[in-house]
Amino acid sequence: MAVRTVLRMGDPRLLQVARPVEHFGTPELRELIADMEDTMRALNGAGLAAPQIGVGLRVVIFGLISNPRYPGAEPVPQTVLINPRLTFLDAETEDGWEGCLSVPGMRGLVPRSLRLRYSGFDAEGNPIERSVEGFHARVVQHECDHLDGILYPMRIRDLRNFGFSDALFPGDFPGED
Ligand code: NI
Repeated sequence: MAVRTVLRMGDPRLLQVARPVEHFGTPELRELIADMEDTMRALNGAGLAAPQIGVGLRVVIFGLISNPRYPGAEPVPQTVLINPRLTFLDAETEDGWEGCLSVPGMRGLVPRSLRLRYSGFDAEGNPIERSVEGFHARVVQHECDHLDGILYPMRIRDLRNFGFSDALFPGDFPGED
């Protein structure tokens, strides 16, 4: 287990499409997930995708109980999601502020689908299927975008709504990033 270096926007590895996991329950997969969990926890992330630590596999983790980077956000269960598939449940989107460990110190206003169903597998290959909304749905969309080489700034509709966290929200995120 180890805290790994998180790649930052500009690194071409963040723009690649990740490949599906073929073998579940392996020591290598468990080690990858343990490293991702250590890294996410060390940086107060709400989620992390394997490509962010330079591993081109379709693995994301996310979860939030209380997090100084996202004050007031509703809780999201700690989840390991592999080979995810998303099904959007309505056409409606909602703008919300996002940050990303690969874009440190910044926030942007990003439209996301309000409700979706996601499916995939945990580390042992057990199926996962959930219908979610709100911040949970937003986090899943953000993390799964990483698997397709998409970073949240690419989805901002008006770049006036993109900037440094402490300039956008003075005093709101002490010690972040
Ligand atoms: Ni991110």
